[in-house]
Amino acid sequence: MTTKIIAHRGASKLAPENTMYAFELAYKLGAEGIETDVQLTKDHIPVLIHDETVKRTTNGTGYVKDYTYEELKELDAGSWFSAEFKEARIITLDSFLQWVKPKDLYINIELKNNKIDYPNLEAIVFDHLKQHRILERTTLSTFNPNSVQRLKNYKEAVEIAFLTSKRHPNLIDYAKELGANALHIKYRLVQELLIEQAHNAGMPVRVYTVNKLKQMMHCFRTNCDGIFTDVPFKAMNARKVLQQ
Ligand code: G3P
Ligand code: MG
Repeated sequence: MTTKIIAHRGASKLAPENTMYAFELAYKLGAEGIETDVQLTKDHIPVLIHDETVKRTTNGTGYVKDYTYEELKELDAGSWFSAEFKEARIITLDSFLQWVKPKDLYINIELKNNKIDYPNLEAIVFDHLKQHRILERTTLSTFNPNSVQRLKNYKEAVEIAFLTSKRHPNLIDYAKELGANALHIKYRLVQELLIEQAHNAGMPVRVYTVNKLKQMMHCFRTNCDGIFTDVPFKAMNARKVLQQ
């Protein structure tokens, strides 16, 4: 099996995470998929930003949920990373989907509702994917078990992944009971047996955030279905070496 290389928040080592710069670069560098994080604005627009607040990745302050999109898009989402990216903006899920649609990329939309459980986030995001006819190559994931349960209404149409960093005595059954049909796990949980059992249960396993060569090799060798990495170019090279 070939492990898919998925750019985590875009090519986020080389460009500001979750911005068009990071997504474009990931695509140019040959990543096979893109992972991004969704939060909701005050006017219920899904936008791509990892944190609940804008502090770390923009020149603003406060919560995403307290900004309208009109206000949010004025913020500089690039200078914190490097002055050359000062034009970077927080973008909507909609504009990301428009950009990704004609490209041959796997998509993982992570719902960031484990700290703030945004009402209706599942339905809002699902409707966007449906409108763009992009469901069949997309996984919706979340750390929030209640959200996984709410998403199970959609699991015939789109893949639903339970995201976790925690050890669980019976993770596969637990995730299945919630209604997930895929697992997205932190690297430290990777074990050959777990991957094998998940596959036997029909669940793909993808792993975050894999930036070290040794960890990449471990994921390739244990047949993980995908790795989320900030350095997709490095992972592509590592996989090539292994395949030779
Ligand atoms: O979706 C995988 C990974 O992105 C989960 O953690 O905090 O990087 O969004 P985080
Ligand atoms: Mg994420």
